[in-house]
Amino acid sequence: MTNIDDHETSRPPETSSNSPAADGFSPVSTHLAVDWDAEAATFDDEPDHGLRDPAVKEAWADRLRDWLPRHACDVLDLGCGTGSLSLLATEQGHRVTGVDAAPAMVDLARAKLAGRPAVFLVGDAAAPPVGEERFDVVLVRHLLWALPDPGRALRHWRGLLRPGGRLVLVEGVWGTLAPVGIPAERLTGLLTPLAADIRVERLSQDARLWGKQVTDERYAVVARL
Ligand SMILES: C[S@@+](CC[C@H](N)C(=O)[O-])C[C@H]1O[C@@H](n2cnc3c(N)ncnc32)[C@H](O)[C@@H]1O
Repeated sequence: MTNIDDHETSRPPETSSNSPAADGFSPVSTHLAVDWDAEAATFDDEPDHGLRDPAVKEAWADRLRDWLPRHACDVLDLGCGTGSLSLLATEQGHRVTGVDAAPAMVDLARAKLAGRPAVFLVGDAAAPPVGEERFDVVLVRHLLWALPDPGRALRHWRGLLRPGGRLVLVEGVWGTLAPVGIPAERLTGLLTPLAADIRVERLSQDARLWGKQVTDERYAVVARL
């Protein structure tokens, strides 16, 4: 099982590109070399992935309720994994389209949300296969940092939003010895030309979210057009 928390004790993920992105940002590393299909079966074993502990699930539900619009809306969950956040969103009355590059993740998400207002597609989060469909929210947890060109992905995602829509991005910098991720300051810098209102919420201090105490940088950004 590979977890972003494990990078200091396991080999670092192989980078998929050594080239800087178009905006000059070189990701610290990427986990695109991870075999996410192989990870799928055990992915939910981590407390913040599977949200099996009711206290952890409630902690994420509380945050999501605050980040998402109060009215029922259309949420695009990119790099949706097994659909844990998608499930919370539908439990709060929203409709979800989930996209993940790993078919095994998509299979698990479809099973987890069977009978709910949700569809799941296999595809690249950087260019989701949603055609002309537009959304009220693009929700992304623990993926943007690993994309080869985060700035380009953000610009594309902004174009998938309806007027008044928002990006909800949950990211961080994991580990202290060999940290990987994207610092909040870097992400807000990328968002500044794209969004009218940017709110950063620090998440490290809330152990309920992670099922344990953490000291590295974890945060969410809500960026409204
Ligand atoms: C760390 S997991 C996060 C899953 C989910 N967002 C969550 O928070 O539970 C990263 C997910 O992104 C997916 N992924 C990685 N690169 C991707 C890409 N380029 N396009 C779509 N999905 C991708 C992986 O298959 C995996 O399910």
